[in-house]
Amino acid sequence: MHLGIDFGTSYSAAAAIREGQLHSIRFGEAQQFRTAAFFPENVPDPNDFVLTPALEAQLESLLRSGMRRQDGLRIVRRQWMEEQSRQGEAVSVGSLKHALFGDAAIEAYLLEGTGHLIESPKSMLGYRLDPRVRQTIVSIATHILEHIRLTASRQLDTAIRSAVIGRPVEFRSSMGADGGEQALGILREAATQAGFDSIRFVEEPAAAAMHYHQSLDTRQRALIVDIGGGTTDVAYAELGGDEPARILRSWGLARGGTDLDSGISLRRFMPLMGSEVQAIPAHHYVAAASVHNLPKQREFRQQDYRRVEAPYGPRLRALQELGATTRLNRRAEETKIGLSSETEHGVHLGFLEPGLDARVDTTEFAASAEDFLGRMRRLLEQVSQEWPAPPASIFLTGGSSRSPLLQQLVAGQFPGIPLVKGDPSLGVVSGLAAAPVIAD
Ligand SMILES: Nc1ncnc2c1ncn2[C@@H]1O[C@H](COP(=O)(O)OP(=O)(O)OP(=O)(O)O)[C@@H](O)[C@H]1O
Ligand SMILES: [Mg+2]
Repeated sequence: MHLGIDFGTSYSAAAAIREGQLHSIRFGEAQQFRTAAFFPENVPDPNDFVLTPALEAQLESLLRSGMRRQDGLRIVRRQWMEEQSRQGEAVSVGSLKHALFGDAAIEAYLLEGTGHLIESPKSMLGYRLDPRVRQTIVSIATHILEHIRLTASRQLDTAIRSAVIGRPVEFRSSMGADGGEQALGILREAATQAGFDSIRFVEEPAAAAMHYHQSLDTRQRALIVDIGGGTTDVAYAELGGDEPARILRSWGLARGGTDLDSGISLRRFMPLMGSEVQAIPAHHYVAAASVHNLPKQREFRQQDYRRVEAPYGPRLRALQELGATTRLNRRAEETKIGLSSETEHGVHLGFLEPGLDARVDTTEFAASAEDFLGRMRRLLEQVSQEWPAPPASIFLTGGSSRSPLLQQLVAGQFPGIPLVKGDPSLGVVSGLAAAPVIAD
């Protein structure tokens, strides 16, 4: 038996076919969990201090300079503590054992005010990574995949060793196609370390197509559009009836719902921090809004805003506090989700300044999403130029397909072709669970 794993930018899920039936793995009460992990900080314990030969040598040299043993020891111990704290800045292997996943990870981070939160590690897989950071990302992906494997093995009552993992057509990448290769390499390494012996990758829209295939009695050509958190993936396929699903083409855009969140943050929240009036370079605000980019986040937190006048300076400094950019991004996502069913949405930003609020309406949201909407329109135009013939239906899936703005965009791009709304969350994982059964 193999496990289908949807390792998503925002949410991860797993499912398997057992005795012909789809079995969704539960994570707590839910069928998916936020792809986030929290690692508590290693605060050095002074009781762990022991005089190793190297530290003994340091002490000896202090004593030779005429220092009293007691003072020398105090200095050596203090240097040791500082060194331990410095090492703790990188996620250390020890703290990986105490990792928390999903919403619990985010809650623990915001509550404890220390430690490391890694949200959406999938967004980082295709970026230039120095070897140490690469190793950290492999460890994080390993822990998430191991968490999935062990949870599934318990629920299915068998040791799961085989995985079919979803992959976007195009990973988010700073290195073009090489970024995609690197991403697959990291995922393969992580899945191996997580205990999988057999690992296969299937394109996410192809998996969603297999799910749709099972619901179609008669053969037809269909277009699958999966708008997720990090990427938008499209496939054109022949589906339904007795023959196996046949994927004819796929297209990818490395943009998704998380870009809508950062759009809201930049266009609607950052002006509260002076982005439209102050002489602060625009890239500071971009760095602050880029919550999934660890180097950019570090860069923002290191800026000095002590000379920036009120109210912007104090708000910027509040945004530099640990966890504040994560909170602001949450408010942006809540706003976006709110605007799927309301015409206006308000959020409290009291963590930046007591009583500070922001309101966004659908027009302002659409303006903040302009870049994403433009790219999406161009992708769909390319698709309709390259498909062999117009499809009989369009199957819409992915969490971001809940947004009326995006539904309208897709419908408007293909007038006259019926739009079928699939399960926004579980289409891909069901297809991954069924993948080889259909392909064989
Ligand atoms: N009601 C809603 N309106 C708009 N967006 C929503 C809604 N509900 C969820 N989303 C967005 O859907 C996205 C998550 O979708 P999904 O779970 O399909 O992504 P994913 O599979 O994790 O990402 P990817 O496939 O890109 O790696 C998030 O950006 C989330 O904010
Ligand atoms: Mg997805």
